Amino acid sequence: MPCSCCEITDNIFDESSAKSDIKEYRKRGPADQTKLILEAVRSLGMKDVQLLDIGGGVGTIHHELLKDVAREATHVDASSAYLKEAKGESEKQGNSERVKFIHADFTDVAADLPQADVVTLDRVVCCYPDFRSLLTNASEHSRQAIALTYPREVWYIRFGLGVINFFQRLRGDPFRVFIHPISEMDELLSGQGFQRLSMKRLFTWEMALYKRA
Ligand SMILES: C[S@@+](CC[C@H](N)C(=O)[O-])C[C@H]1O[C@@H](n2cnc3c(N)ncnc32)[C@H](O)[C@@H]1O
Repeated sequence: MPCSCCEITDNIFDESSAKSDIKEYRKRGPADQTKLILEAVRSLGMKDVQLLDIGGGVGTIHHELLKDVAREATHVDASSAYLKEAKGESEKQGNSERVKFIHADFTDVAADLPQADVVTLDRVVCCYPDFRSLLTNASEHSRQAIALTYPREVWYIRFGLGVINFFQRLRGDPFRVFIHPISEMDELLSGQGFQRLSMKRLFTWEMALYKRA
């Protein structure tokens, strides 16, 4: 379903970056920050879960969790190019029957989607201006846990994202990257009935795992 968010993200998360990401996944497996989400979800010891992966890109999280934790998955993404590569990989892994793919801005279609046991957002909040709407909708769709990664609030990330946004503005491309306040994201999720169980950091990314209190 085309939407203004989809047009904006389709431009940046295009065919060439999708092809490069799936090639990287096939060659090296999940990226480091994605591994943190996978470890966190596995640490819950759950089986047979329904997974909702928002902004799942080439689908790394469901490709991996369908091996041992998830029974089925829904992958909502605003980029058609990423969804195409994710679908191709699901077929390759024999999982196409177990994954539902939806091309949309999650906040536009959330009301029509059922809840899942686990909701994941790997490097997604930083691509979306309204983190409150995204995380409120995400948390309302989670029966048990949410795991997400987002950029750390440190000077070198602020500087780096500032440079990216500067060039985006120069190019006349409306896509921007965001460092949303971590304390406000935490407050929002706590207000939605979630408790932070763990948090891990890499140089650029932070991962937080939340469970329903
Ligand atoms: C930086 S990529 C991350 C992809 C993947 N999760 C990963 O870590 O490799 C961000 C992804 O989120 C998607 N996205 C951003 N905002 C979205 C929204 N509101 N609804 C659905 N997808 C969204 C983009 O289309 C893109 O595929």
